[in-house]
Amino acid sequence: MVCKGTACHVKGAPQIIEGIERHLGIKEGEVTFDLEYSLESVGCLGCCALAPCAMINEEVESNLTLRDVKRIFSRMKRDSNGEDC
Ligand code: FES
Repeated sequence: MVCKGTACHVKGAPQIIEGIERHLGIKEGEVTFDLEYSLESVGCLGCCALAPCAMINEEVESNLTLRDVKRIFSRMKRDSNGEDC
């Protein structure tokens, strides 16, 4: 769930959403074919000073960059495969 509030928008939320869309092959509001991921947006996560932000499962990721998006999905894939860090 990517924040599209004003602070996050100004700090690059649209580029973060585009990066996630490219990575997952879905558009905002859609779910992946395997039902593993959904991509949604929200008005404000309440941590504007740390923009851009997203909530992934129960955790807030802040100061996101496109590099972070790749890192987060790599970590999630590794975790879902049951591998240690
Ligand atoms: S605008 Fe994104 S956390 Fe407030």
